[in-house]
Amino acid sequence: MAILKVARLGHPILRQVAKPVPPDEIRSPEVQRLIDDMIETMREYDGAGLAANQVHTARQIAVIEVLANPRYPDAPHIPLVVVINPVVTPLGEETEDGWEGCLSVPDMRGIVPRSRAVGLECYDRDGQKVSLIAKDFFARVIQHEHDHLNGIVYLDRMRDLSTLSHIAEWNKHWLGIREQAD
Ligand code: NI
Repeated sequence: MAILKVARLGHPILRQVAKPVPPDEIRSPEVQRLIDDMIETMREYDGAGLAANQVHTARQIAVIEVLANPRYPDAPHIPLVVVINPVVTPLGEETEDGWEGCLSVPDMRGIVPRSRAVGLECYDRDGQKVSLIAKDFFARVIQHEHDHLNGIVYLDRMRDLSTLSHIAEWNKHWLGIREQAD
């Protein structure tokens, strides 16, 4: 396994639409190794998720995991999920504001409105079809990673850039504000 270099805002790969992975290639050594490397990279940098674009590979693969994470100390735990060729459907009209950060936008946070619940259909790393409903923080992370695979970053989704904060200032001025924040 290897820790991969993470593309930062401004790298064109973050603006590319990732290509689907043919289902019969999911179990190939190349794809499996990419998935392992993405998991290791996400854990190394305390990400809640990581999309393949962020490691310079425009394929429809994302990994999500939230355990004890110093970047998101109050977030509910999410066991490791590998998401391939995701189709994400908002469930209901309800949106919720919450803080997001991104390994490709280092040391920043901003408030982003997201659907409170989404349906997710995708393949897992064994090539099995997965269908689930996610709510709250899990739904937020799915939407964030799905956006990456479509060339969208969370800044594009912010309604009001005045909440965009450097993490050091965020810790001083915003921590604990808005209870629904992650
Ligand atoms: Ni991100």
